[in-house]
This record gives sequence, structure tokens and C-alpha cells, in this order.
Amino acid sequence: MYFPSDFRWGTATAAYQVEGNNVNSDWWDWEENGRILQNHRSGLACNWWENAEADLDLAAAMGTNAHRLSLEWSRIEPEPARFDTEALDRYREILQAMHDRGIEPMVTLHHFSNPRWLVEKQDFNAAIVVDYFQRYTARVVEHLGDLVAQWVTINEPMVYIFMRYLERVFPAPSRPGFWGGLQAGANMLRCHAAAYHTIKEAYPAAPVGVAKNLACLDPKPNAGPLARWWAGRLSWLYNDAWLDCLVNGRLRWPFGRGKIPGLAGSLDFLGVNYYTRFYVKFPPLGGLLHEGWEADAVVSDGNYGEIYPKGIYRVIKQALRYNKPIYVTENGVPDAADRLRPGFLISHLREIWRAISFCYPVMGYYHWSLIDNFEWDRGWTQRFGLIELDVATQARHLRPSAHLYREICQSGCLNSDMTARYAPDLLPVLFPGQAPSPA
Ligand code: FCB
Repeated sequence: MYFPSDFRWGTATAAYQVEGNNVNSDWWDWEENGRILQNHRSGLACNWWENAEADLDLAAAMGTNAHRLSLEWSRIEPEPARFDTEALDRYREILQAMHDRGIEPMVTLHHFSNPRWLVEKQDFNAAIVVDYFQRYTARVVEHLGDLVAQWVTINEPMVYIFMRYLERVFPAPSRPGFWGGLQAGANMLRCHAAAYHTIKEAYPAAPVGVAKNLACLDPKPNAGPLARWWAGRLSWLYNDAWLDCLVNGRLRWPFGRGKIPGLAGSLDFLGVNYYTRFYVKFPPLGGLLHEGWEADAVVSDGNYGEIYPKGIYRVIKQALRYNKPIYVTENGVPDAADRLRPGFLISHLREIWRAISFCYPVMGYYHWSLIDNFEWDRGWTQRFGLIELDVATQARHLRPSAHLYREICQSGCLNSDMTARYAPDLLPVLFPGQAPSPA
């Protein structure tokens, strides 16, 4: 199963999760205040602030040609309007190191974490955030723009809203709740529009997109018509509502009403983050989603989710309505023992290959993640890395999946040989009738 020769074979990370010592971030406070798992701290994380280059060496040896990373706003602007040139210079070094290794940088401006001063003034629910975000973006573009191949303005707006305003397991704003969350969602659209035009003024040809988490939100098998209708509404709210506003350039229910200047036409590509499927509860009493899975489901570490490869094909197909090039900007599985990841990689990439074979415009795949990293409220309990990290010693160890991904990236294809070696159970399913060729 061959992929296009210009396909981006990448990995993805976020600043706060890998850099270490982001002491000016709201997440650092959240940890210090004991709001995440006991004895879990981001600390040095993967020590990227000191030595991202070591892991970029491994990414290059793995044959990847792209990487998605984010910038930590709280490092770049530790106090309002005070920009840290040394921090910006360090990002220049990291981006240059990627180019030197043949790795194309996709840069996210906002990935869940904020400067502490911003949340002291309020979170994204305050309208002033748009001016702040534009000012930050302008400085970043001025300092780093020549090294950035593609931009993502905002990562997973609905996850941000859900985890902060409703679940409150991410740093909670002073005024959480449903309405505050919707205001934040509307302001994120305004921030996106402002950042889009700020980037385009300086670099008109640079593609700018967003990374949107798309999940399969399904009714339980055999659910009745009302339950199916409800699952459809919830799926629309979570997956489509925010993007519909973006592509139409107007706020719509439930985010508000009215045009957002500069928003229409401000999307060059859509980044899709896909992990799993959920079953929607009906009636929605005591929660929106069922906690368990069907009896035959294969579930990843810590009950994170079921392995559902078809879902990636379904969300790509769903994303066709936006009529934009699509990048899978995140996809991965928490699996410390690497028992599921090789099969996960092969089966999800096979679904992407299937989408491409129908001429769906999937341009690249950024696996989450290159290396185990600090998984937000779940601390170090969830290991998403192709590379295993020993947090105490900072030692790295390539999981079998890293070797598999190298074979895939270097050959630009999936074949029966690698499937037989890394995920033999999938051989009869994906390559029926084919015995592996002798090594
Ligand atoms: C996504 C986030 C990313 C990471 C993965 C596992 O929702 O964007 O930072 O936490 O989940």
C-alpha cells in the first residue's frame, strides 16, 4: 500500500509536555497547587528546552520528514508585553535543527497552556485575549516566521473548553461553566482570525490551519431512533459546530451570533486529531458518555479508549465537507508495553491509505507522539511515545513501534512483510492470502 511521494511522515509534540521547567505557565501553578495526580510533575519533562536536538536526531534516524511542535507563550511573553528574546532565539535554534535534519516544522501557537498573567486577567472567555494573542503572534512571526513551513493557530478548542470550563481537570478559569466555555470558543475563533492575517501579512504563502480533535461519537449498537438522533446532535456539537463557524465566518448557535471580521476564508488546511470512539449515553443522565466498551473491544492503557482504526477513515470523510487539504495532526495510543501500538500504527495508516486511494486529500500523518511526555492531568501515567522515556534518568529506548515507523517512513508504504513481523494478527485481515516474503 503505497503513499504519495510527497506525503509528510511526522510526529507531534506540545511545548509544555516536552520542554520542562515552564515555570511561567498556568499549568505549572496547577501542578504546584496539587491539582493533578499526586506525585506527578512535569518537571524536566523530556528536557527539550536544553536538548531537543537529541530527540530530533532520533526522529531523523526514524526517517520522518516532518514534526509538529508548539511554542510556549509563557516563555516567549513571561509578562504582559515583555518578550524574551533569548527564548525566541532558542526556538530559532530548535527550528533550524529540524531543517538541518530534513524535518519540516509545523508550528502550533497555542496548545492548551497559557502565560500565568493571562489567566490572572481571565482566560479565553475575556475579549481582550484576542489583542494579546495577536500581539504574541506578531512577535513570533517576526522572529521565527522564515523557519516555519506550516502554522496551526489553536489546538483542540473543544477539548480546551471541555477540560477547563466543564470538567475542570485542566487549569480552571475563574468563571468556569458552560457559558464561559462558549465565550472562550467564540474568542478562540477571533484569535484564529487575528493570527491568520498576522501570519499572512508577513508570509502570504505560508499555510495556516487549526488542529481539531474529531471523535466518533456513536449511539450504542441497537440504540433506538431517539438515542441515534441525540448521538448525532452531540457529535455535531463536539466535532462540527466550531469548525462550521470558522468556515462560514460567522458565530452560530451555541457560540453566539454575528460575523467575525476576517474569519471567512481563514483556513488553508484542516488538522485532524483522532484517537478513539465513544458511545453516547441516552438519556444523558449522570454523564454524556458511556464509560465502558463493547465486550470485544481492545482497550488501551488506563481505559483511555478502544482501538478503532475505521474511525480515522470516518473522521477524514466527515472532514471532506470543509473542502480543505487534511493533515492528521495527531493520532496515537497510550501503550507503555508497546503491545498494541504496532498494530495500531499499521491499521490506522491502512485506513488513511484507503482514504487517499479515494482521492481524499490527506497530505500527512503526525504520530502522537515521538517520545513519552507529560500527559496533562494524567501526569506520567500514559505513555504515547514511539520512544520510551525513563523520566528519572532521562534515558531513551526505542520501542518496537519506532522501528516499524522507520520502515514505513523510509519505504513510504505498508506491506505484508512488516505486518508479519510487527503485527502478525493483522496479516490475514489486511493482506488476505499473502504469506510474508522471505527476508
Ligand atoms: C490530545 C492533545 C495532546 C495529547 C494527546 C494524547 O488531545 O492535543 O496534547 O495530550 O491528546
